[in-house]
Amino acid sequence: MRIFHFDELGSTSDYLKEKKDKKEWDLVIADVQTSGRGRRGNLWVSPAGAGLFSFVLKEDPNLSMEEYSKLPLVAGMALLQGLKAVVELDYKFKWTNDIYLLDKKLSGILVEKVGDFFIVGIGININNSNFLGESKNGISLKSVTGDKYEVENTIKIIMNSFKKYWNRYLRGEWNEILREINQKNYLLNRKIEVEFLGKKTSGIGRKILKDGKLEVETADGIKEFMVGEIHIKL
Ligand code: BTN
Repeated sequence: MRIFHFDELGSTSDYLKEKKDKKEWDLVIADVQTSGRGRRGNLWVSPAGAGLFSFVLKEDPNLSMEEYSKLPLVAGMALLQGLKAVVELDYKFKWTNDIYLLDKKLSGILVEKVGDFFIVGIGININNSNFLGESKNGISLKSVTGDKYEVENTIKIIMNSFKKYWNRYLRGEWNEILREINQKNYLLNRKIEVEFLGKKTSGIGRKILKDGKLEVETADGIKEFMVGEIHIKL
């Protein structure tokens, strides 16, 4: 695994997208990002002390796009387990792939496809105490435990966890991984609103299904979502 560590970059994912000679597992880390990107075109506030990294997965022609559609979920569960190995806290998995801690966002994942590569970008609030913009409802490891964590080491632990989970997925262990995801399902039995293509659907979050969709119980019966922005209702 080649590791490229920069003091500052626009975005680790953009760097890898543009990199000509990228190889599987190339890992790019930045101490600070000046144009960090979140999902749905959001800005990802990327101050010093945060874990900001992206890595490359080469598309395997033997895997279908339907199988790749579970990559964000597998990455999310691998991230949760990796974080547990760093410090044992009660992390939750917020479908599709955010990690929540004490009802606040700790980490987010952005998966993008460029040619025959997938770029997986991960932002984790590790030692930082500012969570502006999208992460205004944020929390960091340090703000919870008071301890400071070694950022590159934390990222390596998460990479190892991802490799382990991805191998399990390739070996056909999706059912077991899905069970783990459902055990940590933050949306289970919560009042939520799912926004998709400007349409908002209210209901109660239920389980994550075998095809990766989220089940939502609405006034019109059970609905399933493959994508959508989730708003928690109190
Ligand atoms: C989200 O929750 O919206 C996803 C956030 C992903 C942020 C990470 S930080 C490292 C990588 N580089 C980026 O520009 N974005 C991802």
